[in-house]
Amino acid sequence: MNILSPSILGADFYRLGEQISEVEASGVRYLHIDVMDGIFVPSISFGMPVIRSIRNSTDLFFDVHLMIRDPERYIAEFAECGADLLNFHLEAARDPDRVIDAVRSQGKKAGITIKPSTPVEAVLPYLRKVDMVLVMTVEPGFGGQKMIPECLDKVRAVRRMITEQDLDVRLEVDGGIRIENVESVLAAGADVVVSGSAVFRGSVTANVKAFLEKLNGKP
Ligand code: DX5
Ligand code: ZN
Repeated sequence: MNILSPSILGADFYRLGEQISEVEASGVRYLHIDVMDGIFVPSISFGMPVIRSIRNSTDLFFDVHLMIRDPERYIAEFAECGADLLNFHLEAARDPDRVIDAVRSQGKKAGITIKPSTPVEAVLPYLRKVDMVLVMTVEPGFGGQKMIPECLDKVRAVRRMITEQDLDVRLEVDGGIRIENVESVLAAGADVVVSGSAVFRGSVTANVKAFLEKLNGKP
C-alpha cells in the first residue's frame, strides 16, 4: 500500500484545521509536518505549538520532517507534542545514531533524510536501525519548487538497498511531486509520497482523490 503524506506547508494557515479535516475525510492517513529553523535551511516555518494544536483535532499519523540543526536537542519535545515519526537530516546531526536512539527512547518511529547533494551511501550505516528513509527531490526549505529529476536515481538506489537487505523500511520522497510526475516517483521505488502545493492548491478533495488513484489504483 503506497501512502500519500500531504505537507501542511502548502496549506492556507488561516484555514488549517478545515483543510486537515478535508484531507482526512478524503482518505489520507499521514500528515507531513515540515519544521524549519532558519539555520539548517534559510526559512522558518512553525514549531511545537502548532503541532500540539493540530494533534488535539486529528488522529492522522504525524510524519514530522525536521529541517533543524542538531535535532537531538528537540527530540523529546517533538515526541511530547504529538509526532508519530521523526525524520531528521543526516547533514544536520553530529551523531545520527544518538538521534535515532533518542527517537526510539520516546517510543516513536525514526527516519533519516538526505538532501539532493548528499550521496546515497550516507544512509547505509543506519538503514537497519530506522523505519523510514526520506529522499529529498528539491533543496529543502521551501514548498512549491520544481522536482530535480536526477534525484530519482537516489530513490532507485535506496530501494535497491532496502530490497537487497530485505528490510521493513519505508521510502519517502519529498519535493515538487504533482499528479503529472507521481508515477515516475513510484516507479523509482517510493512508497510514501509527500505533496504540499499539489494537494492544497485548488480542491483538496479532488487533488487527494487524483493522487490516491495514482498511488493505489481506483478504489
Ligand atoms: C520542502 C519541504 C516539503 C514541501 C513540499 O523543504 O520539505 O515537504 O512542503 O512541498 P511541494 O510539494 O510544494 O514541493
Ligand atoms: Zn518535507
